[in-house]
Amino acid sequence: MFILGIECTAHTFGIGIVSDTGKVLANIIDSYTSPEAGMIPHKVAEHHRLVAEEVLQKAFQQAQQNVHAKHFSWDDISFVAYSAGPGLDPSLLAGYEKAKEWSKKYQKKLIGVNHPAAHLSIGKIIHKLKDPCYLYVSGVNTQVIVQANGKYHVLGETLDNGLGNMLDKFGRLLGLGFPAGPKIEELAKKGKYVELPYAVKGMDVSFSGILTKVEQLFKQKKASAEDLCFSLQETCFAMMTEVTERAMAHAEKKELLLVGGVGANQRFCTMLDIMCKERGAKFFKVPLELVRDNGAMIAWEGFLRKDTSGDIEINPHWRINEV
Ligand code: ATP
Ligand code: FE2
Repeated sequence: MFILGIECTAHTFGIGIVSDTGKVLANIIDSYTSPEAGMIPHKVAEHHRLVAEEVLQKAFQQAQQNVHAKHFSWDDISFVAYSAGPGLDPSLLAGYEKAKEWSKKYQKKLIGVNHPAAHLSIGKIIHKLKDPCYLYVSGVNTQVIVQANGKYHVLGETLDNGLGNMLDKFGRLLGLGFPAGPKIEELAKKGKYVELPYAVKGMDVSFSGILTKVEQLFKQKKASAEDLCFSLQETCFAMMTEVTERAMAHAEKKELLLVGGVGANQRFCTMLDIMCKERGAKFFKVPLELVRDNGAMIAWEGFLRKDTSGDIEINPHWRINEV
C-alpha cells in the first residue's frame, strides 16, 4: 500500500509517497522564497497553487524510479494525506484545496493530519524507536513531548518565542539574514562565554529575557557577535538539555528523538548526546531531508491515522496534545 502526503503549513509545498512499512519512495519539496526575507501569506498560497502539479509529477517520477516500475501514478495510491494544521491559513487552504481536488478526481480517501505529530512519527519509524521522549525545536515550536495511552503530552515548552525564531531575531540584528541558526552556529565556534540569564521555569523555558540581554550587550558594544552567539547557544541549549533530562527521568524514557530545524546544530546534538549517555539512554535525530517540512512525513502520519481521521478541513491552531 502506498500513501501520498501533501505538506502545506507554511513556506514549503511538498509531496511525499511512502509505503505502509514507512519506506520513503518519493519526497519532493518546493519552498517559497522572497528577496525581502519575509512571508506574505497570500503569496505563499499562490506559490503552492502554482507548483502543485509539477511537484506531484516529480514525486510520481521519483517513486517510479525507486520501485523500479515502468509506471507510477494515482492507480498505485491508496490514500491522500494532507497537513490540516497548525499553520498559516492561506497556505493550509491552498494545500487542502489540492488534496480535495485530487482525492475527488481519483477517488481516494482524504486523511487530515497534524503537522507536528508528523514530524515526530517520521523520526520514530526511521529509527524504529519504541517509546521515545521527543524534543521538538523548530522556528515556531520548542516542546518536550512524550506519548502515553496513544496521546501526546507536552511536558515542557517555551513560554514565549520558539528557540529557532529567537535565534533568527538575534541574527537579524547581526545582519545574518534568514535563517540565522546556521550562521550563529559558525560564529559561536570562535566565541567565549559571557554570562546571560538562565530561564528555566519548572519544566518550561523562556527566551525573551535572554534575547533582550544579548541585544543590549551587542548594541552597547559590550560583547562581540562571536561571544554572544557562543553564549546564546550554550545557555539556551543547556536549558533545553536540563528540561529534557528531567522529562526523561520522570517519564522513564530510554530514547530521545530530536526533531525540528534547530536539530541541525551540532553543538546542540553533542550536549543532548552526552546527557543521554550519562543516563544510559540513546540519542537520535532525524536526517536532513526528513527533518525539514516535507510530504513524506505527512504521508506516514496519514498511514498511522487512516482509520481514525478523514476530511477534517483545516485547523490553523491545532496543538499536538489535542491529536
Ligand atoms: P515548524 O512549523 O515545524 O515549527 P519551522 O518552519 O518553524 O517548522 P524548521 O524549518 O523546523 O522550523 O526550523 C527552522 C529553524 O531552524 C530556523 O529558526 C533556523 O534558524 C533554525 N536552524 C536551522 N539550522 C540551524 C542550526 N544549525 N543551528 C541552530 N538553528 C538552526
Ligand atoms: Fe514543520
